[in-house]
Amino acid sequence: MTETMLRVNDLVVDFSTPSGNLRAVDGVSLELSEGETFAIVGESGSGKSVFARTLIDLLAGNGSRSGSIEVGGRNIDELTRSERKHFFGVEVAMVFQDPMTSLNPVKRIDAQLTEAMRYHLDMSKSEAKDRAIWLLKQVHIPSPEKRLRQYPHELSGGMRQRVVIAMALACEPRLLIADEPTTALDVTVQKSILDLLDELRVDRKMSMILITHDLGVARGRADRIGVMYAGRMMEVGATEALFSDMRHPYTQALLDSIPNPAMPSHSRLKPIPGRPPNLLDPPKGCAFAARCRHARYDCLEEAPPLDGPDGPEGHRWACFHPVGTPEGEAALAANLQDGETATGLPMNEVGELV
Ligand SMILES: Nc1ncnc2c1ncn2[C@@H]1O[C@H](COP(=O)(O)OP(=O)(O)O)[C@@H](O)[C@H]1O
Ligand SMILES: [Mg+2]
Repeated sequence: MTETMLRVNDLVVDFSTPSGNLRAVDGVSLELSEGETFAIVGESGSGKSVFARTLIDLLAGNGSRSGSIEVGGRNIDELTRSERKHFFGVEVAMVFQDPMTSLNPVKRIDAQLTEAMRYHLDMSKSEAKDRAIWLLKQVHIPSPEKRLRQYPHELSGGMRQRVVIAMALACEPRLLIADEPTTALDVTVQKSILDLLDELRVDRKMSMILITHDLGVARGRADRIGVMYAGRMMEVGATEALFSDMRHPYTQALLDSIPNPAMPSHSRLKPIPGRPPNLLDPPKGCAFAARCRHARYDCLEEAPPLDGPDGPEGHRWACFHPVGTPEGEAALAANLQDGETATGLPMNEVGELV
């Protein structure tokens, strides 16, 4: 039996803003096993980073959360002060979207990398330094001794991101939360960093939440995928089930918008028409209805819950008219007959949004 590493139950995050309440995460639940990689995909603004930061209890001052978070069987709200330090210094680590968030511009790499190890692992200066060199080698940084003496601004963006990953791995976390760890990097560097994270996951049974807006990356790396939109999980399932048997029209639209290696290089991607909803004034019904080919009038009444058969893989979707089901086909046929969706999106005669 593999242990459950992370258990999130009905997480809601609200921000109070001058324009009112903004719900960035709207009832997300998630379970992650030891050694498992769960990818969260979704367009920008869907709440991925807020969700990730909330998991390590880093909420902006204007934020509040409800719902519970358990890591390794411990509820993070019940940790003592010293347990917290250990927890978020050793057991759980995060790679932030922007490497400069984690790096101190006026300290050498050396100090930044060894500090946590000396503090949490009680290492001597020279032990920590040896390990720092080893870690930099692990993230494929050439001449690590030289790099250790440098400041963050002396390194390229790709190097900085690798240093941040080395820092996150320094204390051998059991759970790594990586928020778009490679978005700013070129494709070859991207691949080698993702390969490295994969190796570490297998070697150390580390669990990982990999946040990416790239479904292609998620497909290659994750055991399961959650598709997030407007603060909600729209569809969750084992990676292959999600690709071969996707149910949510949003997942389908995302898939249609990524490059397909089988297509000729000049073929155009289909961007998803429209924009995500304003979270300060969210719609009553499904958050995706305003952009959805399947949207019928019931979609405007209430947000569909994340349901699905209770199979071993737990494939679930939050849609009243899912892709590849009689309900979905009926919705498409009805919209086709109306010439538009329930939210007034015009359709052509083959059921595409125009
Ligand atoms: N401190 C904050 N105050 C108000 N709104 C915030 C704050 N932090 C994030 N948000 C909002 O929460 C939503 C989700 O943001 P984010 O999690 O960064 O999206 P993603 O990472 O998916 O691109 C966005 O609308 C963003 O503007
Ligand atoms: Mg983000």
